[in-house]
Parts: sequence; C-alpha cells; structure tokens
Amino acid sequence: METIDVDRSDPEYRAWLKEAVRKVQADANRSADTHLLRFPLPEAWGIDLYLKDESTHPTGSLKHRLARSLFLYGLCNGWIRPGKPVIEASSGSTAVSEAYFAKLIGVPFIAVMPRTTSAEKCRLIEFHGGQCHFVDDSMKMYEESAVLAAETGGHYMDQFTYAERATDWRGNNNIAESIYQQLKLERYPEPAWIVATAGTGGTSATIARYVHYMQHDTMICVPDPENSCFFDGWTQGDPLASSDCGSRIEGIGRPRMEPSFVPGAIDRMMKVPDAASVAAVRALEKAIGRKAGGSTGTGLWSALRIVAEMVAEGRTGSIVTLLCDPGDRYLDKYYSDGWLAEQGLDITPYAETLDTFLETGVWPAR
Ligand SMILES: Cc1ncc(COP(=O)(O)O)c(C=O)c1O
Repeated sequence: METIDVDRSDPEYRAWLKEAVRKVQADANRSADTHLLRFPLPEAWGIDLYLKDESTHPTGSLKHRLARSLFLYGLCNGWIRPGKPVIEASSGSTAVSEAYFAKLIGVPFIAVMPRTTSAEKCRLIEFHGGQCHFVDDSMKMYEESAVLAAETGGHYMDQFTYAERATDWRGNNNIAESIYQQLKLERYPEPAWIVATAGTGGTSATIARYVHYMQHDTMICVPDPENSCFFDGWTQGDPLASSDCGSRIEGIGRPRMEPSFVPGAIDRMMKVPDAASVAAVRALEKAIGRKAGGSTGTGLWSALRIVAEMVAEGRTGSIVTLLCDPGDRYLDKYYSDGWLAEQGLDITPYAETLDTFLETGVWPAR
C-alpha cells in the first residue's frame, strides 16, 4: 500500500495535503447530526423502536461517514496524492459518497461496480464527477480495482479492508456515540439491541466496539440477506466461507468474509429472506411515510422479530436499527412489482406476517 513516488517533504505537496484535510474536516463541521426516528408500536408493549436516519447525509447514505473516514485515513497515510485517481470497489453507495469527497479535494474518482447496480446510483456517481467502471462478476471488483490503481498510479481505497480501522470506533461522533447521545432523554436510554446490516461490516464493527468500550449492556444483531456468506461464516466460525452469487439487497451481503467484518464483536446474526426485506421496507413507508433502500428493510425485519420476542417474553426496552439510504435510488427495484416478479420474489406472506404482528403483537408461525 505504501507509495514512494512523491516527495513527502515537498512544500507544495504538504500545502495540498493540509488543504485537502481541511476541506474534508470542514464538510463534517458544516454537517448536522442525523435524526433518530421513532417507528410507531402499540404503547402497551412497552417497547420503543428507532431508526437512525442516515439518508440525510449530504450524499444520502450511511456511507458518507465511511467515505469521510476513508479519505482522511488515505490522506493522512500519504496514500491519496494530488492529480492521482482514487479507485473503489463498491456496490454503489460508498462510490456515491467517495465521488463527492474526491471532487471536494479535486482528485479523479473511478467506481468499480457490479453491472446490476441501480441506474440511479450510477447517475449520482457521475453527478459528483466520478466515473463508473462495471464488472459482470462481483467477485472481480477487488482485483479489477487493484489493476486500475496500478495502471493509473492511483489509490485503491479498499473499503472492505479499511472500513473497520479508518473509523474512530471509541467515539469522535461516530454513529454509535451519536445514537447514545440521542437516546439520553428517552425512557429506555440504553438500547437492548442495536441491529445493523453488513456490507463491509464496518458499521456493525464500529457500533459493537463502541458498546463494549463504553461498557453498555446492549447486544448487537447483524441480519444477513440471501446469497451472502456472512451468516454461515459467523455461525460456523469459518473465515473462508463464501457464496457464489451476488446479493440482491444492494449494499449488504457479500460473497466472501470481508476483512472489515468482525464476527467476534457480534452477539447474534439472523438470515433474512430477500422478499421479507422488501416487505419490511414497504411496511416502513406505511408506518412513517418514508421510502428506503432494501438494506433498511433487512434491518427492520430483524428488529421487528426481536420486538416480537420481547413482547412474547414480557420484556420492555428499546431497539435501534438504521435507515441506511433513501428509496428513490431503488424505484426500479424494491418498489417495482415488475422487478419482484422478474426475481421470483413473492412478498405477500411476509407483508401479512408484518401486518398480523403489528396488529396483534403475535408473530405468526409460518
Ligand atoms: C445501503 C447500504 N446499507 C448498509 C450497508 C452496510 O454498511 P457497512 O459497509 O458499514 O457494513 C451498506 C454498505 O455498503 C449500504 O450501501
């Protein structure tokens, strides 16, 4: 990773570096915190469910935090250099946010993505001045990114390796610290569970590490979509677990155990059918009037299942999950009945399960 083709003490480079770091920090300084929204549940259950709304970042997803951290890490390590491109392997959201930061500091950006990435995300990458480079096999993203970096003299950001270490997990306004701050005046300020899905695994690692470091009793659940190996890798303790096709839930679920996925920090995993993720994200719109991406549905389905367990056991408390990105990026996918039919996904039984549960408090056996 170390590159030596630039004189680190060159005053021109040092001035560029200072200015680039200032611009990235200034973006954070101009930003407000993201909201913690309430998902309405019957008062009598004594359970509060929240969604941390990460769609309100300037680039519309939780990846804005990661992209900022990766740019600061790459700049401070001397890996990102003036005039040289930044290259990233991404299923889209990270690339949208990184294209924004690349433009901010004035370096070119190339996103290496699966061909199935939603058209809207590609449009957003190009809107922020980035270039889209497609691969047919999502397993080839990593290799293709490294090749492009070598050919162009650029820097392969490699979110899947560096997400967990670029983020300051002990605090510094990371997502976990913000959640606990925002819960301070709630009736259950220490959540029983935080539910976070995994793409790189960086968000779940950051939250879990913070919870342990701060000595909270909160448990961490990571729900996993179909076609992802994280669940098998975690349950079987197998770092070499793999799957041979890409995830339909954009942003989450991976074909290999990513270096930033930290299994030991996670208390529980849950396999979530893709049709259940879509049913849940549509239920979210009915409940709070907001559309979100498929990964938000995966998290919400899992959070509601935990709520059901708590209701059944007569336990009270709070649960937090994430609203990862907005639904208008996926109108041609999770909000399209045509796409569902094409994919052979029937959401009806899952939608009925959610309706029954929210009406009666009983999770129907299927
Ligand atoms: C829409 C969306 N949700 C959730 C995640 C998971 O986040 P992480 O990479 O921190 O595991 C991602 C990551 O790409 C994403 O794009």
